[in-house]
Amino acid sequence: MDLKNPYAPELYSVIDLKDETSDVRTLRLKPLNDSSFQWHAGQFAQFTVFGTGECPFTIANSPTRSEYLECSFKLMGKVTTALREVEIGNVIGVRGPYGNWFDTDSWKGRDLYFVGGGIGMAALRSPLQYVLDNRNDYGEILILNGARTVSDLVYVNEMKEWENIPGVKLIRTVDPGGETMDWDGEIGLVPNLFEKLSPKANGSIVITCGPPIMIHYMLITLDKLGFKKSNIVTTLENKMKCGFGKCGRCNVGPIYVCKEGPVFTAEQLEKLPKEF
Ligand SMILES: Cc1cc2nc3c(=O)[nH]c(=O)nc-3n(C[C@H](O)[C@H](O)[C@H](O)COP(=O)(O)OP(=O)(O)OC[C@H]3O[C@@H](n4cnc5c(N)ncnc54)[C@H](O)[C@@H]3O)c2cc1C
Ligand code: FES
Repeated sequence: MDLKNPYAPELYSVIDLKDETSDVRTLRLKPLNDSSFQWHAGQFAQFTVFGTGECPFTIANSPTRSEYLECSFKLMGKVTTALREVEIGNVIGVRGPYGNWFDTDSWKGRDLYFVGGGIGMAALRSPLQYVLDNRNDYGEILILNGARTVSDLVYVNEMKEWENIPGVKLIRTVDPGGETMDWDGEIGLVPNLFEKLSPKANGSIVITCGPPIMIHYMLITLDKLGFKKSNIVTTLENKMKCGFGKCGRCNVGPIYVCKEGPVFTAEQLEKLPKEF
């Protein structure tokens, strides 16, 4: 009989941290004890700041890089403020992994469009690293990354490395007014820019994550461009507490987003109750 308390986190030491923007930080963590923590790209975990609380973040690195665990978080409220105080060498808690994941096997041989806005790129980083670490299994890869302003763009150095990989194209865009004098990327909203690229709908997969308004217009654009709803994947960020289907905090009608999600195809989203 497994008597382990499912709410008890494992202890992780912060071994590195990196400021992506003024309000987004990436933590690199290592378990203090032997850990059986294994995950798939797209899953999330609950991260605890002892004495303050816990909150869910996507696991931001690929399972092909499992010698450490990473999360990127945006400063929001109580727990993320406390997490900003955490320094290298400090210990935090992690429990999980939870939820479903991206079906990277079914993407083999296909062209992939990763379309991320703001902190939504955190959810795309793990599957991106995964497909780049298994590069020969996949077709052409386009990364379209948008942010409000140049200083809100995340993973800047990593993106430069990615775009040097054969068959990978990177396009970065900021909202009108968010550019700087030396900005050499695009200016414009993500869905508009995606449409202008005349992407090949046939058989390609779109993996998209970002603010709800971006997803809303991306889905309209993708429909117009002829993408099949089953080939469009996104992740949901409903409020969560337990993370494994017990508390009822995350559900949309009968669907527990923490268990049956957070990854959904546009086809599945369409079947969710209208309250969503
Ligand atoms: C499956 C999942 C994966 C996530 N992955 C990431 C990630 O990789 N990086 C990241 O920065 N964030 C992610 N989030 C969102 C993150 O969990 C919240 O920003 C965080 O819980 C805020 O905690 P807090 O205590 O700092 O803020 P609180 O004090 O709890 O809240 C501050 C403000 O943020 C709002 N808020 C809190 N949680 C959410 C939420 N889930 N969605 C929208 N608004 C919210 C509150 O209503 C309030 O207005 C994810 C959420 C889920 C459910
Ligand atoms: S977070 Fe508790 S049921 Fe989903």
